[in-house]
Amino acid sequence: MKKIFTSIAALMMFGLTACSGSAAVTTSAQETTTAATTQAAETTTATQNETEASTEGTTAEETKAGKDVLVIYFSATGTTKDVAEKIASITNGDLYEIKPAKPYSDADLNWNDKNSRSTKEQNNKKSRPEIASGTVDLSGYKTVYIGYPIWWGEEPRILDTFVESYKFDGIKMIPFCTSASSGVGRSDKNLAERAGTGDWQKGKRFGAGASEDSIRSWIEGLN
Ligand SMILES: Cc1cc2nc3c(=O)[nH]c(=O)nc-3n(C[C@H](O)[C@H](O)[C@H](O)COP(=O)(O)O)c2cc1C
Repeated sequence: MKKIFTSIAALMMFGLTACSGSAAVTTSAQETTTAATTQAAETTTATQNETEASTEGTTAEETKAGKDVLVIYFSATGTTKDVAEKIASITNGDLYEIKPAKPYSDADLNWNDKNSRSTKEQNNKKSRPEIASGTVDLSGYKTVYIGYPIWWGEEPRILDTFVESYKFDGIKMIPFCTSASSGVGRSDKNLAERAGTGDWQKGKRFGAGASEDSIRSWIEGLN
């Protein structure tokens, strides 16, 4: 088992934030009209079997709108999504959501249950939950922000599914996460190792409701 929470306050915050499965849709930049197409996405399951999922995806047209920033995120309860949208707004970047093939229910996210889906996935480093969102064309992007909630001190395993499915050569990869109280921990290094390609930077943690000003000053400090 991974990291145990360091304070009662964290547990309480944690309890208040976890609620429901992901419902966001794949979009590009706020002003971009999405003309969703169907794409086949190769994904890896926990048992390492390969499957194909026919799903809505970000089109080449959307991702090649002359922008060089892409913000990728997974968010089970909306906190990371909020930060991702603020980053996209500040950077004028495109947005791409990692959507699980099987959305996480409240029961799946129950950290008090040793047998809940999230607990079992986090306990199994080889778990690779399947992704339902279509493949994203990374060509043209120079900088990719990649965001996720901290689960038991690490990145959710679905992030591992994602980074192992792409080549990030020539791209500056900037991890960010949200949590009740834990820091980035090893999550940024885990992702860099599992990806194997890309110029991975140190990760940054935000709390729920991080202000646009705090996100902007972090971004400005990156260059
Ligand atoms: C299964 C699970 C494990 C979690 N583990 C931690 C943890 O180790 N440390 C922490 O501070 N918060 C933890 N949290 C709280 C989330 O990191 C926090 O609520 C996060 O902002 C949720 O992001 P999201 O709304 O984008 O899913 C956990 C939440 C869940 C559901």
